[in-house]
Amino acid sequence: MCGIVGYIGGQAATPILIDGLTQLEYRGYDSAGIAVLGPSGARRVRSVGRVRDLEAALPKRLAGKAGIGHTRWATHGAPSEANAHPQADGAERIFVVHNGIIDNARSLREALQADGVQLTSDTDTEAIAHLVAAAEEDTLEQAVLATVGRLTGTFALAVMDTEHPDRIVVARNGSPLILGVGDHEMFVASDVSAVVRHTSQVVHLDDGECATVTAGGFHLFTAEAETVGRSATTVEMTAAELELGNHEHFMLKEILEQPQSLERMLTGRLDDRFATARLDGLNLDPQAMRRFKRVKILGCGSAYYMGQLGASVIEELARIPADAEPASEFRYRNPIIEPDTLYVAVSQSGETADTAFAVQEVKRKGGTIVGLVNVVGSTIAREVDGGLYLHAGPEVSVASTKANTHMAVGFVLMALALGRVRDLSITDGARIVRALKELPRQIGEIVADGAKIAEAAQLLAQAPSLFFIGRVRGYPTAREGAQKFKEISYRHAEAYQTSELKHGPLALISPELPTVAVIPDDELLDRNIGALHEISARGGDIVAITHDTVEVDTRLKITVPKSEPELDPILLMIPTQLLAYHAALALGENIDKPRNLAKSVTVE
Ligand code: F6R
Repeated sequence: MCGIVGYIGGQAATPILIDGLTQLEYRGYDSAGIAVLGPSGARRVRSVGRVRDLEAALPKRLAGKAGIGHTRWATHGAPSEANAHPQADGAERIFVVHNGIIDNARSLREALQADGVQLTSDTDTEAIAHLVAAAEEDTLEQAVLATVGRLTGTFALAVMDTEHPDRIVVARNGSPLILGVGDHEMFVASDVSAVVRHTSQVVHLDDGECATVTAGGFHLFTAEAETVGRSATTVEMTAAELELGNHEHFMLKEILEQPQSLERMLTGRLDDRFATARLDGLNLDPQAMRRFKRVKILGCGSAYYMGQLGASVIEELARIPADAEPASEFRYRNPIIEPDTLYVAVSQSGETADTAFAVQEVKRKGGTIVGLVNVVGSTIAREVDGGLYLHAGPEVSVASTKANTHMAVGFVLMALALGRVRDLSITDGARIVRALKELPRQIGEIVADGAKIAEAAQLLAQAPSLFFIGRVRGYPTAREGAQKFKEISYRHAEAYQTSELKHGPLALISPELPTVAVIPDDELLDRNIGALHEISARGGDIVAITHDTVEVDTRLKITVPKSEPELDPILLMIPTQLLAYHAALALGENIDKPRNLAKSVTVE
């Protein structure tokens, strides 16, 4: 979704802003703009479309050593140049870029219009620029504070004032914002990836905080104008990790990276002696872990499906009742928060608004919530009571793959730790530890041999609609497979429990509707095979994702190495990632940036 970048220092601001916006492109957007403060005042350029369209619209000389930029995902008003940010007041003195949604924008806009202000856009952000410009306070900081005091909703703001060219003032409430600390230069961004080429030193703002950013440094303060002391932390991400390298798409790069990224994730987390997982970051000692009678996992989209997979592993290994729920629904049903339930928020970005709100709901009602989060220092990671970083590295492709696998493995680690303080035997613990150690190599084998999967993808790409089926352990894998497939191939893909087919969906089976069947070699094998016969008997093509030992008579059979039954769904998921990728490739779709989708959904 929207992205913010800002710069102030000794270098030309324009290339830094354009580069920062390019790094933020993966989040999804529909228009972009920058405003640069130079010796002859401020200059603003905005454009609909990609950052490269903005770049093409820039004048030859756009000198200035301070500036702010934005990629916009339309909320108030259509994607248009007038609605793109930076927004400005009528005199073009104040420039504002904004992420989030101002809930009282309508009344603010009406009040401004009643005062004779001519509004030139449909945005909530324009009201902010006018309010800052009209504020009677002495300093830009005070004007921004007075303005944010009138806003309800969520925002991350960066404000530039031609009368105070030595500074950018920023504010945060509910939308991520970071400062990058350089050598006599400072950066502002909604996401570390926009600044990581320039500095690894970042400061995360908390909700309710503002900052003055100058070339010499930053001053952090609260809404009550009280100074906040916080020093920069070093980010793990490197600029090289954001490069495509020799790969055609980030999605493929991220799928292929999984063996190494998982190896890294597991390092130091497996305890051979006690056959358990070391998860100190959860901040739960064995007594605390034993206290929980239930586990409730909250996440959205693919993270929710991984939560379902996780709940199943936790129930199997730790024998604690566990379930997953879309975080987007949770908050609105006034959930009962139980003191003996362990709540778990799962998120790649750590910025998904629905998940962040669910975390707040649990905390407000006194519950214990931990996080399985990929992005270090992100909103959710900082709000939870403890957690487990996924260490998948940056994920750029909108369609999540490696982060999902890391989530699934994170849940196995959690299940192991919870199980081993309960009734999971040391023998079973050791069995799972051994299987976890094997996973990176096994995933390596699957991704190294993609020919069969590509062949199956060609077949599936022809069909306008398809089913993904799985049951019990295999069902979350089927759901995630369907999700990935529809996201990037735009083919209608729907997941069902294999057992549910005969209760309705079987009516749709025909030679035109193929089925991808997830079939682990486990105790449900005979029943799964029975369902395949029912599909074949109705002329439906089947692509089976299964194990070597399974004999199925299907159009295509993709096999994965065998793990322990609790971990098999993870390995069975890897071909579904490649199926989606190759189908979208065959169809010529925009794989890394599918239409209508954003990488990080920071608004409700
Ligand atoms: C699917 C996908 C989305 C995300 C969801 C949650 O490929 O990427 O369904 O999984 O928007 O995002 P995070 O994990 O960042 O909270």
